[in-house]
Amino acid sequence: MLRTHTCGELSTSNLNQEVALCGWVDTYRDHGGGLFIDLRDRYGLTQVVFGADTDEQVMQLARKLRPETVIRAIGRVAERPEGNHNPKLATGDIEVRCDQVEILNQSLTPPFQLDGGEPGSDLASEDVRLRHRYLDLRRPAMQQTMLLRHRMIKIMRDYFDEHGFLDVETPILGRSTPEGARDYLVPSRVRQGSFYALPQSPQLYKQILMVAGYDRYVQVARCFRDEDLRADRQPEFTQLDMEMSFVTAEDVMSMIDGLVVRLAKEVLNLDVALPLSRMTYDEAMERFGHDAPDLRFGMELQDVTDLASQTTFRVFRATADSDGRVRGINAKASRDRYSRKGIDELTEYVMQDFGAKGLAWFKIEEDGSLASPIAKNIEPEILAQIAKRMEAEPGDLLFFVADTFEVTCRALNGLRNRLGTELQLYDPRQMHFSWVVEFPMFAFDEQEQSWTAMHHPFTAPRPQDEELLKTDPGRARAVAYDLIINGSEAGGGTIRIHDQQQQQQVFDLLGIDENAAAERFGFLLEALQYGAPPHGGIALGIDRWVMLFARLDNIRDCIAFPKTQRASDLMTGAPSSVDARQLKELGIKISR
Ligand code: AMO
Ligand code: AMP
Repeated sequence: MLRTHTCGELSTSNLNQEVALCGWVDTYRDHGGGLFIDLRDRYGLTQVVFGADTDEQVMQLARKLRPETVIRAIGRVAERPEGNHNPKLATGDIEVRCDQVEILNQSLTPPFQLDGGEPGSDLASEDVRLRHRYLDLRRPAMQQTMLLRHRMIKIMRDYFDEHGFLDVETPILGRSTPEGARDYLVPSRVRQGSFYALPQSPQLYKQILMVAGYDRYVQVARCFRDEDLRADRQPEFTQLDMEMSFVTAEDVMSMIDGLVVRLAKEVLNLDVALPLSRMTYDEAMERFGHDAPDLRFGMELQDVTDLASQTTFRVFRATADSDGRVRGINAKASRDRYSRKGIDELTEYVMQDFGAKGLAWFKIEEDGSLASPIAKNIEPEILAQIAKRMEAEPGDLLFFVADTFEVTCRALNGLRNRLGTELQLYDPRQMHFSWVVEFPMFAFDEQEQSWTAMHHPFTAPRPQDEELLKTDPGRARAVAYDLIINGSEAGGGTIRIHDQQQQQQVFDLLGIDENAAAERFGFLLEALQYGAPPHGGIALGIDRWVMLFARLDNIRDCIAFPKTQRASDLMTGAPSSVDARQLKELGIKISR
């Protein structure tokens, strides 16, 4: 071993010991009389000192050190002089008086400072950091996140192991599973013109494992989806994927409840009370306008369509008359927080980002009256009823959107989230876990004029809704459950269809005819006929969990080697062109 200790380890209990440390020169200070180096590794920093009694040859070498030089320093542990103790550092009481130094490797001057990321510091642009990810990953902030990720995955694995789950690996080169995104395809050389699809999730394999009798399956599984990327989405991400046989939705959810409690306690020292709060999809859309509502604050949506239908105000009346909805939120006590210009910005926001046609607003004056450019268009008694419905008090600010149900959902959810942050309605360190259940089986795709699966096509309907599959599929609800953390979809699962005929029926509804179903999912339909047990499961988005537990807002900061918004890896340059020979072997011609 080149070292006796790490850079985060030494304390006054090591005084006078001869030690050897290895690491990177973090900072370098030459104070005439002495040379001070903070030596860094992933365990911490240790101050290494070259002073008056240092050998001249060693001193000469020490003067050559620069940030990120890799060295081995040998010396004696000494207490820092009076007044030089650093209580912020684990090793802050000691220093190593160096009498031998070895340069293990030189470093080019890093293109950015490695100490960014702490509160108040400037961080280099993300592109530069991603391009030199090996330097970025040296930053203590990144290393802490990687450590957190490791610990969270370890806790997940231990938890499921303790509950009798079996870790089974499933193929990466496989057959496409429809999770709703585009597939990444891999051409086959042996069978030219044929392609593997990288798994969007191990969904079908885990169901097959249930048929095979491996109830209680778990896997930390890599998933690949070629979809539009956002701050909380990566083309390649990791799921904690699990499946159980002979269970109800309650069983799956309570298994995850236990994991939530364990993770919150062990990682954040937070006590989460069970049962987690639960609401149906319909309730979530009514109360919050979103299926993953942020429940760290209130400001729920209120419906005033019935009142809107009684006014002559064109915008409200026309919407109410055409089966639309008029809904609003009450930004309590924020009348004076928003100027006309501020309100114009919010209006612009709901129109640009969410397709609203406008934003109606009212300030509640001290006498309880509603002030707004549109107030004169609405009858006083209607205004009074609106105020009552909104539980308005002097100082409040009311916002309304009149549109289809979907647009009111999108716009008011967006507005609510923005106001929640701007008005600091919650402590950003707070964690809120909850379930949203009973999602619709299907959503109607207006463009394609067809049904699509809301979760995936293997999801079972609620038993009481089986008839609706035939009569009114849009109203059928699934045995589905999403885990929500702070307004983010952190996991989703369902009880599955285990009956071949019902599976075929759902494929039919989705416009996958018998031939297409046999071609794509024949193996599943067949397997279901060989004694498939009732089963269900869930997958948690590990990257998102780490992001939320680390209180970060960029999923790329939680992945060692992430991809950019354009799905490229700036360090390796992937994706890249390939040799003509490789293409030829695969029988592929590039048409552009
Ligand atoms: P679903 O598609 O809901 O379900 O995925 C499960 C969870 O994975 C996370 N997630 C993502 N994280 C980062 N980047 C992405 N592109 C991304 N897409 C999804 C989310 C999500 O809740 N096979 C089913 C699970 C099941 O039914 O058991 C599935 O994959 O946190
Ligand atoms: P207009 O009559 O279009 O000038 O709109 C009058 C006011 O109503 C403006 O403040 C608009 O922002 C608002 N408004 C217009 N359309 C809607 C709508 N669909 N929902 C809510 N407010 C709207």
